[in-house]
Amino acid sequence: MSDRYSQIVNAPVLSTVARQVGLPQPVDLDRHQPGQPVVAGPVLSGAAPDGRLERSLKKILDDIGTERAGAEGKAKALVFDASGIADSTDLVELQRFFYPAVPRLRRSGRVVVLGTTPALAGSVRAHTAQRALEGFVRSLAKEIGGKGATAQLVYVEPGAEDQIASTLRFLLSPKSAYVDGQVIRVAEGVAPTPEIDWDLPLSGKTALVTGASRGIGAAIAATLGRDGAKVVGLDVPQAEGDLRAVVEALGGDALPLDITADDAPDAIASHFAAGGVDVVVHNAGVTRDRTIAKMPEDRWAQLMDINLSSEERINEALLDSKRLNPNGRIVCVSSMSGIAGNSGQTNYAASKAGVIGMVESMAPTLAKKKATINAVAPGFIETRMTAAMPIGPREAGRRLSSLSQGGLPVDVAETIAWFASPATTGVNGNVVRVCGQSLLGA
Ligand SMILES: NC(=O)c1ccc[n+]([C@@H]2O[C@H](COP(=O)([O-])OP(=O)(O)OC[C@H]3O[C@@H](n4cnc5c(N)ncnc54)[C@H](O)[C@@H]3O)[C@@H](O)[C@H]2O)c1
Repeated sequence: MSDRYSQIVNAPVLSTVARQVGLPQPVDLDRHQPGQPVVAGPVLSGAAPDGRLERSLKKILDDIGTERAGAEGKAKALVFDASGIADSTDLVELQRFFYPAVPRLRRSGRVVVLGTTPALAGSVRAHTAQRALEGFVRSLAKEIGGKGATAQLVYVEPGAEDQIASTLRFLLSPKSAYVDGQVIRVAEGVAPTPEIDWDLPLSGKTALVTGASRGIGAAIAATLGRDGAKVVGLDVPQAEGDLRAVVEALGGDALPLDITADDAPDAIASHFAAGGVDVVVHNAGVTRDRTIAKMPEDRWAQLMDINLSSEERINEALLDSKRLNPNGRIVCVSSMSGIAGNSGQTNYAASKAGVIGMVESMAPTLAKKKATINAVAPGFIETRMTAAMPIGPREAGRRLSSLSQGGLPVDVAETIAWFASPATTGVNGNVVRVCGQSLLGA
């Protein structure tokens, strides 16, 4: 979708005027291109004393083959191991590292701060200091968003030091272009981490994507296909033509059915009778906007059935029939509305907050089955849905974020591909917003 505002404020001459009057000037974000390195430039790393992630961090950066930044010059990424911070007085280590480092960060640069899950930090003071990292990272993300750069915090549980490779690769790369100001929790893996080909992490895996005929679902199908998965795309029978076009281009299968149909859960489980399914992406969703005072029951009920209840039934059918393979993944598509709420969307926001509840409540069960469940919560994504919005809310949706622009369907898809990777065994029960650090919501 075209973002006319971005084109105008970045045009020659007009860009100078825009800068002078203080208008946001969204930069073109780096996005993944096949064959590109994970980080296209030097990485500057640092650590507070007594950190426990140094060895793991060094190995990952060596494996990626990144250039290390020297004492001077630009850096494409800054990584700071804050796991050693055990007291509020130690937080000054953040200032000591980032004060000289941030001016060196390039356009579309990356900042990752690694910490210890506060509740497991070992003392009241350590818990307090680790929790403080959130405020630091979210503020830093707002300070660097103007140059298309992002900042995230990764809390690593003690014992999960070897589980951060796939998460760090994702966050350092252009694949996380529209993920900003997020807090990710990495725990011990639900299954042993397999050796994978980082260019084809889903090789040999089967992935089901609902709502795959267009929009975000089509991008998810394409991205999981790029990563080597055999994709089974599902959509309503009316969309079968578009669905086939999407999945056949990927060498996948089409499953035309309505997820709310009584027999849908069994039909889906039967489809995977031979070989099971490794990745299930619950993407199909609808909006049926009205304020609650004008909301007829059928409008409420239809949306809830599509966006939430059918997902619960499909999960149950797949788990009861043991069709979700070991080290399997369920990835749900929630929404920023489910976190922040939105006028006219009581039904939609309830369903999407329910999706988050489902992720939280099912994570321990899935862990026992050596599988994970996580969710993405997209913010303003450039799709047919958002192109049809009135100009006021549309422009607000785009500009009221640290990156001053909407995201692309591929940004949601890349985040799902990271959750889906067999190497992401330590990320379970997380909800990650893909919203450019939108000002709406938490
Ligand atoms: N576009 C955004 O900005 C945005 C923001 C936050 C969350 N989301 C969520 O992302 C997901 C995809 O959104 P999109 O913008 O690509 O929407 P879209 O309307 O373009 O695509 C949704 C797909 O789901 C399918 N679908 C709907 N009901 C179905 C059913 N009963 N059975 C099977 N398939 C069904 C539709 O046919 C369609 O192909 C949705 O869950 C949506 O709520 C989108």
